[in-house]
Order: sequence, then structure tokens, then C-alpha cells
Amino acid sequence: MTVIAVSDLAKVYKRGAEEVHALRGVSLSVNAGEFVSIVGPSGSGKTALLNLLGCLDTPTGGIISINGTDVTTLPESRRVLIRREQIGFVFQQFFLIPTLNAKENILLPLTFSKKQVDESRAREILEMVGLSHRENHLPHELSGGEMQRVAIGRALINDPKIILADEPTGNLDSHTAEQMYGIFEELVERGYTVIIVTHNTELAHRAHRVIRLRDGHLEPDEPCVCQDNT
Ligand SMILES: Nc1ncnc2c1ncn2[C@@H]1O[C@H](COP(=O)(O)OP(=O)(O)OP(=O)(O)O)[C@@H](O)[C@H]1O
Ligand SMILES: [Mg+2]
Repeated sequence: MTVIAVSDLAKVYKRGAEEVHALRGVSLSVNAGEFVSIVGPSGSGKTALLNLLGCLDTPTGGIISINGTDVTTLPESRRVLIRREQIGFVFQQFFLIPTLNAKENILLPLTFSKKQVDESRAREILEMVGLSHRENHLPHELSGGEMQRVAIGRALINDPKIILADEPTGNLDSHTAEQMYGIFEELVERGYTVIIVTHNTELAHRAHRVIRLRDGHLEPDEPCVCQDNT
């Protein structure tokens, strides 16, 4: 089943008289439960693409369909709901609230969606991201990897089925980055659809599929030659 279908997607940023063509006609589709990596040189349009997939931004041209709904023509009020209910975001910079502990940071999106705090769900998520022993720690009392685990937990709390991550291991050492990929792989095993932008080509190949962007264009899919866990 296709969860994300993108057709001829274009994004032009305007800066005064200057136009930056970040995406120049990208088409792709992602199936439910798929694990996709997006790689490409700096400035090739990876973040632009991810932000559009996550309804954080609107395209200049083309169509994005999320679970069968064309989100490009929806009013912002409907897009907010899709973003909140169907998509979880993880960023390189974690973006945790410094005065809230790990559990409170994870629960924060519930406040915005006016949902009741579900303590057992919070516990379940803390365990899923391997942080049960750190729930009362403030961000400054956590390691980088632990902070990113909190951010993953926060992305999961509204129970979205699509997880989008923009260089989630960019601020982590290679060992911690590998552990983080382990969490994403577990999410895929649980049926989530995961799309990760990364500069780490070795980790990228742990996905089912690697999508390569260059200058706003998609390069042909690479068959994955990895999956050899020896
Ligand atoms: N808000 C903006 N205004 C103008 N130009 C922008 C804006 N955001 C991105 N761009 C430009 O669009 C192009 C694609 O940017 P994008 O952030 O998607 O690259 P990227 O592949 O994520 O790069 P990196 O690996 O460095 O994060 C770049 O040329 C960038 O300068
Ligand atoms: Mg980027």
C-alpha cells in the first residue's frame, strides 16, 4: 500500500530577485512499512523534500499525496492535522525544551493536540526508545544519543505511522548513530514507514531503499546490496 505518492514536485525559493530551484520535478512513492534513506550533496534539496513530505512547507508545483489525500491543495488547518496525527519528525538538533524532563518532552505534543496525557503510553515509548531509566532527567543531564531518543519518543507520542528524520545522527558519534539506526529499524519492524535524510552512506544502506538527490533531481534508485548482517 502506498502511503506517500509524490508527482513532479517542484520547490522554488524566492530571495528578492533571486530564485533558488531546490526541487525540479521529483516523483516517488513510498509503501507502508518501507524504510527509505535520502542521500545527496549539501544543497541538493533533501531538507526541502522532507519538509514538503511532512507538510511543513508547500510546493511550488506538483502533488504530494499522504494516505490518498492530496495535501498540496488542503487549507493549512487541515495540513496541521495531518502533520500532527500522521507524521512524526526527528531533527538533527533535537529541539528539546530544556526545562522539561525526558518524559515531559515526549508528552509535549499531546498538549498541542489537546489530548489527555497517557502515562502508560509514555512509559511504553520510553521503553521503546530505551530511556526508561532516564525519564526524570533534564536534557542537559542526557547524552546526545539520549536526547535524540527523547526526540524520537516525542515524534511517536501522537502515534503517527510515518516518521521523517532529517540527519538524525548528524550530531552523534558513529557508535551512537548506529544505535539510533537500530531504533529506526525497530520502528520499521513494528510497521512504521521511516524516511531518513543522511550524509552517512554506510547507515543509509541499512534502509530498504536509497534515494539519491542531486541538484533538485532524483537519481535512479540503487538496489540495496546491504542486509548482510554478518
Ligand atoms: N528558505 C530558503 N530560502 C532560499 N533558499 C533556500 C531556502 N531553504 C533552502 N534553500 C536553498 O535550496 C537548496 C536546497 O536546500 P536544502 O536545505 O533542501 O539542501 P539539503 O540537501 O538539505 O542540504 P544539506 O545537506 O546541507 O542539509 C539550497 O540551494 C538552499 O540554499
Ligand atoms: Mg538539509
